[in-house]
Amino acid sequence: MAVLTLSWAVILTAAASFAPGFASAFSTTHSTYRIPATVQNEPAYVRFEVDTPGGILGIQSRQSLDAPMLDSINSSVFDWWYFDAVSLDDPRESLVLTFFTATADAFPFLDSTQKSVLIAYAWASFSNGSSWAGYLPATLATVDIGGDGEADGNVSSGMWEDTGFRWNASKEDLSAYEISVDSPELDVKGTLSFTSRAPPHLPCGIKSDTTPLQIAPHIGWVNLVPDAVGSVDVTIRGTQLKFEGAAYHDKNWSDRNFTESVRSWYWGHGRLGAYSIVWFSYLAINDLTNTTYVSSYVARDGEILVDACDVSLLTVRPTGSPNTTGSRYPPYVGDIPDGFKLDFVLEENKRLRVNVSTESKVAGDGEYYMRWTGSITGEMVEEMGMDSSSKSLVRESSLTGVAVFEQFHMLERGSS
Ligand SMILES: *[C@@H]1O[C@H](CO)[C@@H](O)[C@H](O)[C@H]1NC(C)=O
Ligand SMILES: *[C@@H]1O[C@H](CO)[C@@H](O)[C@H](O)[C@H]1NC(C)=O
Ligand SMILES: *[C@@H]1O[C@H](CO)[C@@H](O)[C@H](O)[C@H]1NC(C)=O
Ligand SMILES: *[C@@H]1O[C@H](CO)[C@@H](O)[C@H](O)[C@H]1NC(C)=O
Ligand SMILES: *[C@@H]1O[C@H](CO)[C@@H](O)[C@H](O)[C@H]1NC(C)=O
Ligand SMILES: *[C@@H]1O[C@H](CO)[C@@H](O)[C@H](O)[C@H]1NC(C)=O
Ligand SMILES: *[C@@H]1O[C@H](CO)[C@@H](O)[C@H](O)[C@H]1NC(C)=O
Ligand SMILES: *[C@@H]1O[C@H](CO)[C@@H](O)[C@H](O)[C@H]1NC(C)=O
Ligand SMILES: *[C@@H]1O[C@H](CO)[C@@H](O)[C@H](O)[C@H]1NC(C)=O
Repeated sequence: MAVLTLSWAVILTAAASFAPGFASAFSTTHSTYRIPATVQNEPAYVRFEVDTPGGILGIQSRQSLDAPMLDSINSSVFDWWYFDAVSLDDPRESLVLTFFTATADAFPFLDSTQKSVLIAYAWASFSNGSSWAGYLPATLATVDIGGDGEADGNVSSGMWEDTGFRWNASKEDLSAYEISVDSPELDVKGTLSFTSRAPPHLPCGIKSDTTPLQIAPHIGWVNLVPDAVGSVDVTIRGTQLKFEGAAYHDKNWSDRNFTESVRSWYWGHGRLGAYSIVWFSYLAINDLTNTTYVSSYVARDGEILVDACDVSLLTVRPTGSPNTTGSRYPPYVGDIPDGFKLDFVLEENKRLRVNVSTESKVAGDGEYYMRWTGSITGEMVEEMGMDSSSKSLVRESSLTGVAVFEQFHMLERGSS
């Protein structure tokens, strides 16, 4: 078992293992990463690709996507593991658990008074429309990656010491996880467990030999579990939150601070009848080319229909009440939509059109950052004919479901 301490002292070892040979070196060993709580004052080596020989995301490569993507955490980089679930019966009920390795300098939505770069965060929302959030700093994070889950140890597990937060993958192919919290300090105890129902999603799909992991410049993203059958049973300050729902796991990271990259960011995932959907649409700050970055994912009963980043394949727009700036696009700080309109282009002239409506506010400051849960409706249409007289034929209508989604608006009105 290789033990990697994420600090400057072992940067050469760690950098070597992040190099292109990473996956194969990986296949023979199980690695334990120990991430210190103190911010490092050194350049961090970032990983933005994965080996996918023959266009296949093999088991070792897949496992490597749950490893730390930076070899040290300095004040301008971030890396985190995100897990959520939203109730299928009542989308106001949700739970989000995030394991951060970042400072508030790098990701401004963290508490700037915290000294530890290791923050375990929980957000919950209840059927009466209220929400709760709490977090704790860890003294050390341990991430275990690789192997077959038996003699070799954990396939993917993370423990943020002294917080009571941990995750553990219970299947070798990372198709099932259990995330648990046992924190007397927050007065929270329980688990989120799930089994995947859709294959992993990488920003632009899986390519031959090497697959890039940047969804936009300097922003790494892997979505190991786009949709899962989830089960939540957690007691939060005496209230039990228990539901079955659509669960999700991704990971995002960057080699520079968030505000240096982002102008606007829309992301969400949902379950719509037999469909699993994930959307991402992004504008970079100070981008003279005004490029839109998207990532689109639709699976039906676990079979991928689209998994791509071509900007023509997905349109995400905010919707809002008349006489508000809610639907303004491109958006500015403080624009708060009522929902979103999504237009996914699938093959064979088919489109999945989805309306997303906010129901509960789960997190955010009402200006720069918001996270909601809500209900979604959709229809599958087929465009008949090639010219302007083409008609749309509704193939499936009245699809309904639930979603978790968020926005970041980082540009002030009046700035350029
Ligand atoms: C942190 O790492 C990034 C990426 O390597 C680098 O650009 C930045 O200068 C580093 N910051 C410090 C304080 O070393
Ligand atoms: C982010 O990085 C930029 C450029 O290095 C710097 O000007 C800015 O102060 C940083 N932001 C924060 C919050 O540290
Ligand atoms: C809503 O439910 C939560 C959790 O049970 C509780 O803490 C809160 O007081 C309730 N709010 C209202 C307005 O009833
Ligand atoms: C495996 O994961 C469990 C649960 O997260 C943890 O208690 C245990 O320490 C991990 N094992 C190793 C060898 O790290
Ligand atoms: C974590 O999952 C592995 C299988 O991948 C299992 O062997 C181990 O017992 C689990 N640990 C805990 C604490 O659940
Ligand atoms: C990034 O992280 C957030 C957590 O703040 C998560 O909700 C989202 O899925 C991630 N999305 C992307 C595209 O990186
Ligand atoms: C930037 O691109 C967006 C999306 O295509 C478009 O709505 C907007 O008008 C463009 N803005 C400028 C200044 O070109
Ligand atoms: C929006 O503003 C226009 C013009 O000021 C006004 O006529 C209209 O009634 C307003 N609509 C709503 C829904 O407030
Ligand atoms: C989405 O909302 C628009 C109006 O806001 C409506 O015309 C359309 O039928 C809705 N589509 C679906 C699939 O619910």
